[in-house]
Amino acid sequence: MIRQFPEGFLWGTATSAHQIEGDNIHSDWWKAEQEGKVPHKSGRACDSYNRYEEDFDLAKAMHNNAHRFSLEWARIEPEEGKFTKEEIEHYRKVIRAAKERGLEPFVTLHHISNPRWFIEKDGWKSKNAPKYFARYVQFVAEHLGMEATYWITMNEPDIWNAKGYLSCDTPPFKKWDIFGFFTAQRHMARAHQLAYEIIHTMGKAPRVGIAQNQNYLEPAPNLKFANGLLVKFLVARRNFGFLDSIQDFQDFMGINYYNHYKIHILRGKYQDGKKQSDFGWEIFPEGIYYLAKQSWDRYGKPIFILENGIADADDDQRPDFIREHLVWLHRAIEEGADVRGYFHWSLLDNFEWAEGFTKRFGLVHVDFETFKRTPRPSAKVYAEICRTNSITG
Ligand code: FCB
Repeated sequence: MIRQFPEGFLWGTATSAHQIEGDNIHSDWWKAEQEGKVPHKSGRACDSYNRYEEDFDLAKAMHNNAHRFSLEWARIEPEEGKFTKEEIEHYRKVIRAAKERGLEPFVTLHHISNPRWFIEKDGWKSKNAPKYFARYVQFVAEHLGMEATYWITMNEPDIWNAKGYLSCDTPPFKKWDIFGFFTAQRHMARAHQLAYEIIHTMGKAPRVGIAQNQNYLEPAPNLKFANGLLVKFLVARRNFGFLDSIQDFQDFMGINYYNHYKIHILRGKYQDGKKQSDFGWEIFPEGIYYLAKQSWDRYGKPIFILENGIADADDDQRPDFIREHLVWLHRAIEEGADVRGYFHWSLLDNFEWAEGFTKRFGLVHVDFETFKRTPRPSAKVYAEICRTNSITG
């Protein structure tokens, strides 16, 4: 059966600056890498700072009509209050290069990494954090506000605040700093609101949102009633807590979907699916359907799937992963959810944070010695879906 997506549906891939650009020397992540606080160094990453045109050619060849990428705050403001015009001009060229190839730019302002100076001033825990972020956004909006329509203020605040303030895995490397976690969350919500307002006063009919990581959670079969209550609580907190706090400041809902868990009141969360990615993440295509529906029922705002993808070096699971997720996404649309676009993570193999280059998420394989890009077979599968704006299945 051929399932046609709505006219004008946006098809793209997603990336982020630290993961692909290389030599992000003014960032907290770079510093942590040099100090050995995270297991791998990003080095030149995919060298996309210099090769973005080649990357966009690949996206265009895949019949994409949109592309999500991020600006690096640490490049634009490497020292507190000192903004670099050259970097803004660089990003202007990047945005224009995307547009010239028919790719609608989805510009992320903050994707996990921060400037070093910002962390030295207590990062997102500082009461000044929203002000610092707003000043950066003001500078970007003044210079690039007219270049793009879609803006994503930040990526997955909950996940990265938890890693940074609770489990001590990423900068600023705090362990069980519960106060820090909630303070950072509050400050990021405020920072988002300020950014939303700034972009709306400076851009041309902009659409602003965030990229929220959402797990699809289900109650485990025995003790179902108690597990069900726990799932309700976790969904409200984890998937929707941050979003609820900014819901009047969102033009669309951005969902990043990777994981499905069963929840048991005594056993905690676990995966019981047979199919898993190279990361050990369960493959559960139905999840994208339920999350799109939940988001639509709760907020009634247009939805973009801003990330969904799989670590699969052999590329033997990715083709079906894409097809099956899109069949389920189509079903959500058929049932009324206003989903307007899908961005596959990722265009290229890249620096996967604490996993370094060991996890390969790319539709395009990257040789990290030569930076040669080679599309995998799954790129063809995705290209055909994008070209026909439809999926068979
Ligand atoms: C998401 C991040 C993205 C990438 C994928 C695999 O949580 O937003 O940068 O690392 O996971």
